[in-house]
Amino acid sequence: MAIKSEYKWRPPRFKLKMFKDSFKYYKSRNPPPDLKNIIDFNHPNLSKVRKISTVENKVHNWEKLGLKPLNKWNIYELITVPGLIYIENPFTEFGQQNWILKCVKDFSRKPNKLNLDAHSLLHDNESWWEACFKEPKSEQKLLTKLRWATQGYHHNWDTKHYSEDSKTEMSKDLCDLTELLATTLGFSEFKAEAAIVNYYRMNSTLAGHTDHSEINVEAPLFSISFGQSAIFLIGGRSQQDPAEALFLRSGDIVVMSKSSRLSYHGVPKILRAEIQPWEYYENPNPDSRINEEDWCKAKSYISEARINLNVRQVLKSGQSKLY
Ligand code: OGA
Ligand code: MN
Repeated sequence: MAIKSEYKWRPPRFKLKMFKDSFKYYKSRNPPPDLKNIIDFNHPNLSKVRKISTVENKVHNWEKLGLKPLNKWNIYELITVPGLIYIENPFTEFGQQNWILKCVKDFSRKPNKLNLDAHSLLHDNESWWEACFKEPKSEQKLLTKLRWATQGYHHNWDTKHYSEDSKTEMSKDLCDLTELLATTLGFSEFKAEAAIVNYYRMNSTLAGHTDHSEINVEAPLFSISFGQSAIFLIGGRSQQDPAEALFLRSGDIVVMSKSSRLSYHGVPKILRAEIQPWEYYENPNPDSRINEEDWCKAKSYISEARINLNVRQVLKSGQSKLY
């Protein structure tokens, strides 16, 4: 009788010629991918990335937005994908906690739109976060079901078109944060007009796509990650172009600007975080501005989840409406 082999064939890494090959390779569970060639900004390979400097920024509300002072930031650009900028976690521990709390508690609340809206799982006036902690812990039907929440111009997942009829307020803090990031990188005209908050579980993926629904694709797109880590793939204008893989960890920011703004990208895998940058390692007394009970719940959520804040400008500068 033939012995069943556990061995599964996988393409050698050098054969990953196109975006979809790399996606399949890094998504695979059995066999798991070799992570050796992934760009890791904790140990930047200077043949693939270069350090860039910032524009002097006169704004001084770093702390209020949960950011470290500018002289502590490390910013890189991918040599192989010009315009793809990476900022290594510029957040303080307090900043991480505060933004994670905003994502789970505030950005998932009405009038923002959620994937759950279509399933009538929430009662009127009940927020997802409140409802989660009413249900028995053993069930956790709601907690794991949130996939996305949108604000500003709501992303329409079917038509991929924005509409003046589907628009609510953007979070002021999120506008301030991304507009500060933009000015620091020299994009002084950027205005945050639409945001998608993506909520990933450990087995979630995000298929390769381009973001081209915005009238203004010259403006940069800001993508901020919290919680568990991810392998992020970025390629070229076509699915046939090769892709680079990067590790994204809690607090890391990717900016898709210039020619990378319309590049194919996706998330083939969520990985367990090796360190938790939302924890205070040095100061044993966490910042008292965070509500202890809320944070405890958010911390438990984030132990099995990754959150991505995807912020875009929609209109051309000077334009006040879509049409
Ligand atoms: C998106 C997106 C990337 C990520 O929401 O369009 O590309 O890192 N997200 O989750
Ligand atoms: Mn995208």
